[in-house]
Amino acid sequence: MHQVFIRVFLVLFAYFATASAHAIVVQRDSDISWTLQGCYTDTSTSRTLGGSSAISDDMTIETCQSFCSEGGFNLAGVELGSQCFCDNGIQATGATADIANCNAACSGDDTEICGGEGFINIYWNGAPQTCLSFNHTTTSNVQAVYVSPPTTGPASVPIYALIIFLARGFAFEILSTGFNAFNFVSLTNGGLKATSATQPSRAVSLSALPGDSPTFVMVTPLPAALPAYCMMPNPFPGQDGTVLAVNGRSDLWALCANTSAAGRVDLVFDPIPNHPRYELANCRSVYLTLTDA
Ligand SMILES: *[C@@H]1O[C@H](CO)[C@@H](O)[C@H](O)[C@H]1NC(C)=O
Ligand SMILES: *[C@@H]1O[C@H](CO)[C@@H](O)[C@H](O)[C@H]1NC(C)=O
Repeated sequence: MHQVFIRVFLVLFAYFATASAHAIVVQRDSDISWTLQGCYTDTSTSRTLGGSSAISDDMTIETCQSFCSEGGFNLAGVELGSQCFCDNGIQATGATADIANCNAACSGDDTEICGGEGFINIYWNGAPQTCLSFNHTTTSNVQAVYVSPPTTGPASVPIYALIIFLARGFAFEILSTGFNAFNFVSLTNGGLKATSATQPSRAVSLSALPGDSPTFVMVTPLPAALPAYCMMPNPFPGQDGTVLAVNGRSDLWALCANTSAAGRVDLVFDPIPNHPRYELANCRSVYLTLTDA
């Protein structure tokens, strides 16, 4: 009995120790950073990015991004190896496509991909934004809204705090589209709390590390929530409202199919290549809205 308690304590302690060593690092490059928005369809009669264009035997993603930046555009797209297009919004004629369609090597660097035939890889210059608020204390539902809505199915999905590990006296949760415990969150002083109408027990944010699902812990007494979150303006072109951010980034969320959980779709902050539990190709960019319940 005593031993079990000590083991549980050690696991918890180790978890907290690693989490606090990584979680609160606010890293925001002051340099312009471009993020891939996805692979889109494009036609010569109706351009997906219609602002400005260039063609070069020496095209790279970076060359195109600088060209668009200099032209005052915040979207840059590469296509068919050597073409570059700029705009400040993705035109409605462009539809999201499977990333596999963007498969052409760049004419100026064959280790980079520059779109495909009739397909354009679009990058967005995520202008640095500051947190608007570290509080959203009303009980709220979280929705993951697809940056590029799928052609079929809903444009957004509810997010829950899902229990993934339950032991005597405590539990760990992650943010996921799966539901088994908590359907509400609130944000206080940068820390997230997960609750449900029926359960008086609550969980608090533990860590939100790049590449992984944000974690929560439920234990008595409840520790302070780790303050990695805030509300920011919606960073995506043409979208309004405030959205949930972690460590100063609101544009890096994705929904990924979790291969170690039978394909359950989990929320991931800043998905990485070669993760043991998801394929980057099976992740879709989302932003997170909080709606008062
Ligand atoms: C956020 O909420 C907490 C708890 O209600 C409060 O103590 C704190 O002053 C608030 N912070 C701001 C900046 O409003
Ligand atoms: C995937 O599922 C496992 C098991 O439930 C969980 O530990 C992990 O946090 C999930 N998400 C990711 C991104 O690995």
